Amino acid sequence: MKEKLEAIRREIEEGIGAFDSSRALYEFRKTFLDNKEGKISQLMKGLKDVPKEDRPAVGKTINEVKEWALSLFEETDRKLHTLELQRRCEAEAIDVTEPAKEGAVGSLHPNTLVQNELIDIFASMGFEIFEGTEIETDYYNFTALNTPEDHPARDMQDTFYLSPGFLLRTQTSAGQVHVMEKGKPPIKILSPGKVFRSDDDATHSPMFTQMEGLVVDRGISVCDLQGMLDLFSQKIFGEGVKTRLRPSYFPFTEPSVEVDVSCFECGGKGCKLCKGTGWIEVLGAGMVNRHVLENCGIDPEEYTGFAFGMGVERIAMLKYGINNIKTLFESDTRFAGQFRD
Ligand code: PHE
Repeated sequence: MKEKLEAIRREIEEGIGAFDSSRALYEFRKTFLDNKEGKISQLMKGLKDVPKEDRPAVGKTINEVKEWALSLFEETDRKLHTLELQRRCEAEAIDVTEPAKEGAVGSLHPNTLVQNELIDIFASMGFEIFEGTEIETDYYNFTALNTPEDHPARDMQDTFYLSPGFLLRTQTSAGQVHVMEKGKPPIKILSPGKVFRSDDDATHSPMFTQMEGLVVDRGISVCDLQGMLDLFSQKIFGEGVKTRLRPSYFPFTEPSVEVDVSCFECGGKGCKLCKGTGWIEVLGAGMVNRHVLENCGIDPEEYTGFAFGMGVERIAMLKYGINNIKTLFESDTRFAGQFRD
């Protein structure tokens, strides 16, 4: 028995250093303990064959070896656990001082930036947003806007027809009619949206964005229009920018004007941007034609109003010095990512 115990002790002592994981150590431990077949457990079992008078002493010795083995296994297991944790920490270590990988940061498209800016400016003046539809009827896009069938003004904008009577709106002005039909003055709305025209060159795209404004109330005059335009131009192009109204023609406004702003690049002296004139054309406007008011059930003797419409891409091109409208629609993030608020 003594030899057997010694052999077990030696076997444990020699074997225990060979493990590098607590799991492997446990497999080794099971061949001695925690298991009926374990060598120490077997010795305990064999105690019944030991002469009765020797049993207490032998039992005690076996127990001593068992206690010794248990504490040795536990101590080794603790060391292995520490080692394993250390190894895992090293393997999963994060160097918090390492510079972070640069993630791609998105940015708003220049058109969206300008559109948001315009909406902010007009919202601060009390304009409400009205969003019309991209598909319109001939009536809302033309007829109600004082552009009857065969009127030469229809040729001003080449139209995409969907079916007889239905078209892709050529101007956000179509929204004016919806607003005036539905609501009573005072009316003060801003209507942004896509418009479509059969037009395609460096400064024209078959689809572009317009921003329409409409104000109808008692006693509205050209002075109100000009005052609002001055404020708007300074907010979008910078302080000191002046506006100028030139006579023009739109079937739905009378009088009609083209609005120029003094060149914000050269201050009016003349440069490449303003083509040497000192002025840049930015939008069309005018006093709402009395026929349009009548078409919408508003009494032109009681109410007057002004309307304006601008191309958002044009404003973006001027503001950011973009010379080809196509770059605004190419979805090239290297281009679009250059613009910030
Ligand atoms: N709808 C006109 C255009 O597209 C612009 C405009 C709007 C002019 C409102 C006058 C009044 O060119």
